[in-house]
Amino acid sequence: MSVLKIALLGFGTVGEGVYRSIESHGERLEKILGKRVEIVAILVRNKQKQRKISGNILVTDNFEEIINLPHIDYMIEAIVGREPAFTYLKRAVEKGSNIITANKEMFAYHGEELSLLAADKGVSLGYEATVGGGIPIIQTLRQLLKVNNIKKIKGILNGTSNFILTEMREKKEPFASVLKTAQEKGYAEADPGNDVEGTDAFYKLMVLSKLAFGFQPEWKDVHVEGITSITREWIEEADLLHLKFKHIASVEWKDGKVIASVQPVLVGKSSPFYDVEGVENAVSIEADLVGSITLRGPGAGMFPTASAVIEDLAQSRHQTDREAGSPIRDSVDQDSQKEASYWLLDRVKKKVADPSIEWLQQHPNNKWIIKSSVKGLNRILDQNPGTEAFPVLAEMIEKESSDLFTASL
Ligand SMILES: NC(=O)c1ccc[n+]([C@@H]2O[C@H](COP(=O)([O-])OP(=O)(O)OC[C@H]3O[C@@H](n4cnc5c(N)ncnc54)[C@H](OP(=O)(O)O)[C@@H]3O)[C@@H](O)[C@H]2O)c1
Repeated sequence: MSVLKIALLGFGTVGEGVYRSIESHGERLEKILGKRVEIVAILVRNKQKQRKISGNILVTDNFEEIINLPHIDYMIEAIVGREPAFTYLKRAVEKGSNIITANKEMFAYHGEELSLLAADKGVSLGYEATVGGGIPIIQTLRQLLKVNNIKKIKGILNGTSNFILTEMREKKEPFASVLKTAQEKGYAEADPGNDVEGTDAFYKLMVLSKLAFGFQPEWKDVHVEGITSITREWIEEADLLHLKFKHIASVEWKDGKVIASVQPVLVGKSSPFYDVEGVENAVSIEADLVGSITLRGPGAGMFPTASAVIEDLAQSRHQTDREAGSPIRDSVDQDSQKEASYWLLDRVKKKVADPSIEWLQQHPNNKWIIKSSVKGLNRILDQNPGTEAFPVLAEMIEKESSDLFTASL
């Protein structure tokens, strides 16, 4: 059974969730992917922190140690903020790794560039976890987009804001004390700015806009308003009218333009958002053929978000290693190839010094015959983008003279 090697960037709520889910759902993934999924490296900021991680996994605070590993099939990123996440993923793609990210801020800024680069390099890019936690909104949109034209997307995209509005109404408490509860329960960050001021929902909306309409509106033209100005009194007034404040992110295609906003709005009982309470998220899609669809579910948290990441992994099963890089990676069972074997390499620019690689014969146009394990071979391929490798039957090298072999090139 060959192995699918994964590097995890980040071991916080999401990263650890992914780790535990791969542990608990490993067999299922193996059936889907046809390969045993193995986490080989984890990037963290603080290496000294005690974590429950298997001893044979490289845990490092130095990305160079990960990017320099001979071969990583998937780089899964769950760190925070635009940088260094973007640079890390760019380097991973350039090296031929498939990537999956949960980082909506980074993806709202750099999604397009990463998508183009991934397409150029033939690797897959998953970003289901950037929007709506465990709700499969990206997959649903992709499916609908095959035939439908999307007209409008509206959603409660930030669970913290929805939790605060719900608690303010149900407990009749002011914003500040509910925010404290949200922080105690782990729903809100110590710095809750991104959540309560609408920035988090805005990033998610921009990710949806790009997918649904092909581009994002000018960011400066988007009205972004959080929930900090909503008072308990306003909520009570609304309640008397059977209305509720909901923090709604909305994007629509209108007269050839994409129009977006993020703001608290009042909704009535007929709205699909009326009953969405607490940390739940909901997204409503309006499309020309299907009409209106609403998805709702856990918008954040360790396992719902890990679920989205793992779904990306499972979905990309048709994205073979052949598409992702060198042809050889698809066809070789790495476990069964610990023994050195012979390879013909084409267009080698840089010889890699490694005791497990024997550089046997050089031929015109930087062709080489080598004897190497798959591990050694992958090291060469990683350092020589564009180089192709073809297995050579050992008997041919061993039985026939090198001249004969040269003639057949
Ligand atoms: N939490 C959710 O429910 C959720 C849902 C959807 C999407 N997301 C997104 O997923 C990402 C991760 O969120 P999270 O809640 O898991 O964050 P978190 O709990 O704060 O964990 C972040 C992890 O990344 C590591 N890290 C941060 N900056 C780093 C750097 N510069 N270099 C190396 N490692 C670094 C941290 O290392 P240490 O452990 O050493 O500090 C930690 O392990 C974010 O982009 C977030 O927006 C989160």
